[in-house]
Amino acid sequence: MRVLVTGGAGYIGSHTLLELMAQGHEVCVFDNFSNSSPLVLDRVRALSNGTVTCVDADIRDRSALDAVMDDFAPDAVIHFAGLKAVGESTVKPIEYYDVNITGTLCLLAAMDRAGCQRIIFSSSATVYGEPVYLPYDEAHPTAPTSVYGRTKLMAEEIMTDWASARPEASAVLLRYFNPVGAHPSAQIGEDPSDIPNNLMPFIAQVAVGKRDHLSIFGDDYPTPDGTGLRDYIHVVDLARAHVAALDYAARTTGARPFNIGTGQSYSVRDMVAAFARACGRDIPVQVAPRRAGDIAAMLADAARAKAELGWEATHTLDDMTASTWAWQSTNLDGYGTH
Ligand code: NAD
Ligand code: WQD
Repeated sequence: MRVLVTGGAGYIGSHTLLELMAQGHEVCVFDNFSNSSPLVLDRVRALSNGTVTCVDADIRDRSALDAVMDDFAPDAVIHFAGLKAVGESTVKPIEYYDVNITGTLCLLAAMDRAGCQRIIFSSSATVYGEPVYLPYDEAHPTAPTSVYGRTKLMAEEIMTDWASARPEASAVLLRYFNPVGAHPSAQIGEDPSDIPNNLMPFIAQVAVGKRDHLSIFGDDYPTPDGTGLRDYIHVVDLARAHVAALDYAARTTGARPFNIGTGQSYSVRDMVAAFARACGRDIPVQVAPRRAGDIAAMLADAARAKAELGWEATHTLDDMTASTWAWQSTNLDGYGTH
């Protein structure tokens, strides 16, 4: 298939490009590089020995979207482009709604004009909010607790309405749990532009000496060791879920959400211990107050993805930490562009 990948230069997008090309798909990236570097695509080209065309434009740029729909004529779109920092979304709500919602509307309108009827969307487990029960299944009530989470839920609803108005359209809504890890080549990985918000890149920066300790945000949660539990998913498994979703979109119509997680959770202390094993160094930690808005435990019921997409995670916790360490220790400054 010809696949337009918005946000394809980002952390998850870049890994997905490699999995798509490995399965014989043709790709075109649409990205404004606001949170990524064009160097990423050179590495993807070198690793795949394939062609990666790219349009450098904003997802709200209607004429650039129309042009790429005409020139590349995609069979499907994978929509990663967007803003993703939960904390920042509370201080810049209009920017988040504009990029994540206006951007989605512009993209769907351009798809309509070109007759492109399949979209795979980067949603998030954050759409569920405080758990009513765990593991979350896709029928769990949705009640996001941040602006970012609300943009993801609204975008899901927009795509659901779009698909129900078009008998041949398909929208696959992938609710990612906590993506971590890096490509086994150690050539591509997560490269936060600022102080990392997320646990794994923060631990990795402590391990290489860029930060002196990890603050554990609360050790008094009702969990076995008191620290937060999450369902961490290896980015290569996550990338493969998109390939499975494309095949699914080609044989189904309508909109459907899928949890993309492992069904297993680890605590902050488990992650620190696993990373210390991978890098052979101590990771200094200090217990700090809880982070506002954090949930004690999140866990996916990933049965639907297995049954309907034919996808399940195969990487272990040690794969996640070892690949992150290999990437971070050989690319101390990531892509070196911040
Ligand atoms: P990322 O920031 O690395 O990638 C996003 C890409 O989109 C970047 O290359 C960025 O330059 C591009 N982009 C941002 N705004 C744009 C705009 N206005 N126009 C064009 N391109 C734009 O993030 P990621 O971690 O790869 O996440 C990809 C998607 O998955 C996002 O939609 C994110 O919300 C979603 N998601 C991420 C996580 C996570 O923890 N990483 C979890 C759940 C969902
Ligand atoms: C994991 C655990 C923290 C950093 C966020 C978004 C979610 C999704 C993934 C986009 C928690 C603890 C963290 C630190 C810590 N993104 N922690 N010290 O909060 O589950 O999810 O990223 O869609 O929407 O909300 O991930 O990696 O920030 O935190 O103790 O320096 O690590 O309290 O228990 P989170 P995270």
